[in-house]
This record gives sequence, C-alpha cells and structure tokens, in this order.
Amino acid sequence: MNNTHPVILISGSSGMVGRNLIEHPESNKYNILTPTSKELDLLDYSAVRCYFQNMKPDIIIHAAGRVGGIQANMAHPVDFLVQNWDMGRNLLIAARESGVKNLLNLGSSCMYPRDAENPLKETMVLKGELESTNEGYALAKVSVARLAQYLCQEDGTLQYKTLIPCNLYGRWDKFDPSHSHLVPAIIVKVHQAMEKSDEFVEIWGDGLARREFMYAGEVADAIWYCVQNLNKLPQNTNIGIGQDYSIMDYYTAVAAVCGYKGSFKYDLSRPVGMKQKLVDTKILNDLGWRSKQSLIQGIEKTVEFYRKEIFK
Ligand SMILES: NC(=O)c1ccc[n+]([C@@H]2O[C@H](COP(=O)([O-])OP(=O)(O)OC[C@H]3O[C@@H](n4cnc5c(N)ncnc54)[C@H](OP(=O)(O)O)[C@@H]3O)[C@@H](O)[C@H]2O)c1
Repeated sequence: MNNTHPVILISGSSGMVGRNLIEHPESNKYNILTPTSKELDLLDYSAVRCYFQNMKPDIIIHAAGRVGGIQANMAHPVDFLVQNWDMGRNLLIAARESGVKNLLNLGSSCMYPRDAENPLKETMVLKGELESTNEGYALAKVSVARLAQYLCQEDGTLQYKTLIPCNLYGRWDKFDPSHSHLVPAIIVKVHQAMEKSDEFVEIWGDGLARREFMYAGEVADAIWYCVQNLNKLPQNTNIGIGQDYSIMDYYTAVAAVCGYKGSFKYDLSRPVGMKQKLVDTKILNDLGWRSKQSLIQGIEKTVEFYRKEIFK
C-alpha cells in the first residue's frame, strides 16, 4: 500500500470492464481494492456498508452488475432488474453513509429509449419507451443513474456521476453463447464453422441493424480519464467510439481476422433488438478524450485472447 496514493474501489473487478481497468497502466497511481463477489456481495447492504466504513475508499468505480446478451436478458428479466437495482442502490447508499465523496457509476446505452434519435444524447434518458428485449436491465440502469443524481442534489459535496458506455467487447469478454454479446458470439460461431468446415455462418436477423462496439481496453482508458476529470463531468456522460457499423460489418471483420472463407446465411425469425444504437460522444470529446482504435485492431486483440484463453 502506497500511503500517498488515493484508495480506489473497483466493484466488478473480475468482470470484463473491471479486469481491463486493472490491466491499464493508470491503475498504478492508486491503491486499488478489488473484492470479489464472494468477499463482498453487493446484494448484502450491511456487508457493503461495513466494508466501506472499514476500507474508506476515496473513489469508487461501480463496474459490477448482472450483464448478458439478448438471450440472457430475455430469459431472466427479473434477475436483470432486481440484481442490478439492488447492487447499485446498496453501493450508492452505503457510499453516502460511509462518507465516500467520489463515485463513477457505469450505466449502459440500453438506458436510451428504443425510438430515440441517433446519435443518442445524454438528455434523451427517460424520454421514451425502452427496448423490450432488455427492459428490466435498462430500468435498473436508469434508476441507479437517477439515484446518483438525487444523491448529488441532496448533498452538494458528493460527486456521483454516471458513465454510459456503448456496447463493449474485448479481453475477458464472455464467450459462452448463452451469456455472450455480439462480437464474442460471432468469434465463437466463426471458429466453430472453421472447425467443422461449414460453408456458412448463420446471422440473427438481416444483418442491417447498426451497433457501436468499443474495445474494452479503450473503455478502461476513457474511465480512467473520467476519474482524473471527475469534477468536470456532467451528471451523465456517454462513452463511445463515435461511429457505428452494421451487424454484417462485424461478421465480415471477424471472418477477415480469423481467415474464414465461407459465407453468411440470415435467420429472419430471430430477434435483433434496436435498429441502431450510436451514442453521442461530444461531451467526452470536448473534455479531451477520443477513441483511437480501429475495429480490426480491437477484434485482432479479442481473437488473440479467445485463442489463448478459451479455444485451446
Ligand atoms: N459488457 C458490455 O457490453 C457493457 C456495455 C455497457 C455497459 N456495461 C456495464 O459495465 C459494467 C461492467 O460490465 P462487464 O461487461 O464488465 O460485466 P461482467 O463481465 O459480467 O462482470 C460483472 C462483474 O460484476 C460482479 N458481480 C455480479 N454480481 C455481484 C454481486 N452480487 N456482488 C458483487 N459483485 C458482483 C461479477 O463478479 P463475479 O464474477 O464474482 O460474480 C463481475 O466481476 C456493468 O455495469 C455493465 O452494465 C457493460
């Protein structure tokens, strides 16, 4: 423990975002607390309050959550709503009760209404109906973001801000098809097709829906930048790459990186979610942070991780 470094608690430190935050060189400037869910269950309010009062973090990054792709969200809306609300509520209220002044809460672009105009501005939260395939998760995320805002309204000494990242992928992602998001799901499908010498890979929907995916190493870079600039952030700030691609583009990019030579077949009976999801990055860009990594570079690093750690 370095006595001159601030103490920062990262919830969800074993998750994709948490691990990328810890791997980032900026983490060396802090004494980092990384309790696992076994050591500190965020669903247990008393345990959370006791931990904060003992460890006295200067800053908290709330990156824990029940997170999953479209299939998991549709199958378990109760868990996605209740667990994400309970974790956020417990963590934010315990932080206030324990005198923690600085906190970054991770929201999600699922917080935006399904018919909101793209690019999605931070002011669009709660301006329309949510996408039904992940409504429970989105309701919890919106509620925790509003709780952070209310806590700041009631106590002007608190800096509890919400970051709203676009979709993410990268090292430490989930590759199990029942929990995975789009990019790791494509990586697995393409590897399976290559193993079995399949002539095509199936795509859910027509491949035309557009999505913005950021490499998790970059989101970690943006979050650390926000830690340094916490007092300059507005209540809610998007994190994104400022560009979206079609689902088909993601399949094509993964196929190119993996060397898959087959083609694609569309399953139009499958759900695809929103038609477009691109966040407005003006606030973060004006603050001085901008994405630098190309889609191919991010996919190359993720495929390398998958081949080394998962597909052995
Ligand atoms: N992944 C994305 O595409 C994406 C996009 C936008 C925003 N976000 C947000 O970013 C944050 C992190 O996402 P992620 O992708 O890193 O998720 P993840 O890989 O699924 O990690 C979730 C983390 O939460 C922890 N956790 C779950 N239940 C817990 C509990 N009861 N007590 C304590 N910890 C608990 C898990 O710990 P255990 O492993 O020990 O259970 C794990 O470390 C979430 O708020 C998510 O909504 C993610």
